[in-house]
Amino acid sequence: MIEVEGLTKFYGPKAAIQEVSFQVARGEVVGFLGPNGAGKTTTMRILACFMPPTSGTARVAGFDIGKDSLQVRRRIGYLPENVPLYGDMTVRQYLTFAAEAKSVPRQERGKRLASVMERCLISDVSDRLIRNLSKGYRQRVGLAQALVGNPEVLILDEPTLGLDPKQIIEIRSLIRDLRGERTVILSTHILPEVAMVCQRVIIINESRIVAVDTPENLNLRLQKSSRILLEVDGPAEEVQKALAAVEGVLTVAPQEARDGRRRFLVETDREQDLRKDLARAVTSNGWGLTELRPVDLSLEDIFIRLVTREEEA
Ligand SMILES: Nc1ncnc2c1ncn2[C@@H]1O[C@H](COP(=O)(O)OP(=O)(O)OP(=O)(O)O)[C@@H](O)[C@H]1O
Ligand SMILES: [Mg+2]
Repeated sequence: MIEVEGLTKFYGPKAAIQEVSFQVARGEVVGFLGPNGAGKTTTMRILACFMPPTSGTARVAGFDIGKDSLQVRRRIGYLPENVPLYGDMTVRQYLTFAAEAKSVPRQERGKRLASVMERCLISDVSDRLIRNLSKGYRQRVGLAQALVGNPEVLILDEPTLGLDPKQIIEIRSLIRDLRGERTVILSTHILPEVAMVCQRVIIINESRIVAVDTPENLNLRLQKSSRILLEVDGPAEEVQKALAAVEGVLTVAPQEARDGRRRFLVETDREQDLRKDLARAVTSNGWGLTELRPVDLSLEDIFIRLVTREEEA
């Protein structure tokens, strides 16, 4: 339903996103997870045809965001990071206006409004002025606005931002209920949120995608093992054996050689830091150790940062 290929966006000399590629199947709810400034909003704005990328392409329901942006926009409901609401309209007036903009047929409008207001739990404030609503209610009006055109695809930029815990639960369950019915991309920097709502997670950090997987697999990958890359000047088979013999090592995978040096990806038991043991295994055999570093560290870093933030909040 959504195909993104090599999207890159520069603001002046600075890249907000680089070579971002992913796909989302019809009916899937996918989470875009990443710390502040990672590039989530930038990607979503491009998909919503809010601005063009510097390079790369994306298709929504087969339509190109550049060449067929009108077709794309018709199929997308977009909840921006800062919802542009009109304060001196009532909720009903604003949603009527949004329905007109989305070309909802006049005879269907009443029914459509009633159903999205019910879904977003705002029926009781339908005749209140938007400027008098609390932040959480405004966020829900924004969500109703995204849904009013009955779009196949929903792009929701931090849909639970600013909501209280009860509202967060309600909105999360609303989004989860869209599974199978709509294709949804939502952004968040709350790790447990993606686990609760999304079937798949795209992790973005410092403008690049660093992982795409199910929440379950990501957790497993993080819990079970950590990976260390070694570059060794020595006979491949013997080095591999020596590394595998270190206690706590789960697997040793030889990598492509670089400049004649051998590289090995070592998977280790998460509980132990084996870097010293691994280094010793190499040097005690008289081989040269030219590099030793944890890989996937960025992913781990992000998780730690994200989890910490949720706990702080
Ligand atoms: N209009 C702009 N002009 C210049 N730089 C921008 C602009 N918009 C975003 N950026 C930069 O692009 C990078 C990505 O920003 P983006 O808003 O996409 O991140 P984000 O993942 O949505 O972050 P957050 O979690 O804070 O919403 C950041 O470094 C940001 O400073
Ligand atoms: Mg953002």
